Amino acid sequence: MNTIKIEKTESKESGWETFNFKSFQFGETPTDHFFLAEFKNGKWVNPRIEPFHSLTISPFALCFHYGQTVFEGMKAFRQDDGKVHIFRPKKHHKRFNRSLERMCMPEIEEELFLNALEKLIQLEQHWIPKEEGVSLYIRPFIIATEPRLGVKIANEYLFCITCTPMGLYYPKPVRVKVETDYVRAAEGGAGYAKCGGNYGAAFFATKKANEQGFDQVIWTDAKTHEFIEESGTMNLMLFMDNKLVTPKLSSSILDGVTRSSILQIAKDLGIQVEERPVSWKELKEQLESGNRVELFGVGTAAVISPISCVQIQEVDYFPYIENDAVMYRLKKELDNIRRGRTTDKYHWNHFI
Ligand code: COI
Repeated sequence: MNTIKIEKTESKESGWETFNFKSFQFGETPTDHFFLAEFKNGKWVNPRIEPFHSLTISPFALCFHYGQTVFEGMKAFRQDDGKVHIFRPKKHHKRFNRSLERMCMPEIEEELFLNALEKLIQLEQHWIPKEEGVSLYIRPFIIATEPRLGVKIANEYLFCITCTPMGLYYPKPVRVKVETDYVRAAEGGAGYAKCGGNYGAAFFATKKANEQGFDQVIWTDAKTHEFIEESGTMNLMLFMDNKLVTPKLSSSILDGVTRSSILQIAKDLGIQVEERPVSWKELKEQLESGNRVELFGVGTAAVISPISCVQIQEVDYFPYIENDAVMYRLKKELDNIRRGRTTDKYHWNHFI
């Protein structure tokens, strides 16, 4: 792989100088530069960083027709001392490759992935202010670009890494509904892969839930609709009975990086952790018992998002979201590691 060529923007004013970090919508504003590389003749070539621009792609490109698109979502943070790091890029890289393998797309070597990220974030680090609560969301993605209408695995691809500033994905506690009609992913399908199709296929049920006043659905397993899986933009966790419980990973659940970090943090705090099947019946019984039950989503974008209302079989339940909830302690610990306020004993922060 060649070295990464860098072409800086010629614009005198960089976007971050005028960007309103106090009030913005997630995902609307790209930073000044992005990374690109092409896959041709069996290898990744021409790695480069350019000023952000639109792409010219043939309408015949296979990504538009048969769904070979894979992405990642990760974040860079500025610590209290000003240093910038990317959170767990090696873990994201492994998941990226697992998704690519599932979609028959060419994998990316770790060296290229890390090198591209480091160079890009070095250039874009001004987009991460020191203020609490703002980070830089990093969106690597690969699409099939070979122009061909025949149904086939493409042999040409484009790999890009783009960035956008990020505050809270869910500014308010989330209202969700347990979905038992529609299916996001079945065992043996591609649910564990971060491919575009999983998100597109989720829109219909999510739109219906939105129309009923919910932010998201909780997906259940495709076979029995008894076991809760994930919530579209995040993995799910419960704190009940002094235990942190989360659905066990399967081929239909995304292996969340935040999920894995929170499970580790909980163990380190001496909290008992259970990864196992969780039925909505169990959740319902717990919520009806009057016991304190916390239900929350965890994800790169969502971080830890409290769930204030969950509808199960047409009945609304209200999980515990008061200030002393354990989920906020877990979030604080994660924030402390990322801000450099506590020891990063697993070396999750990858400094640039
Ligand atoms: C993420 O947390 O990175 C996601 O992919 C969720 C969403 C922004 C699609």
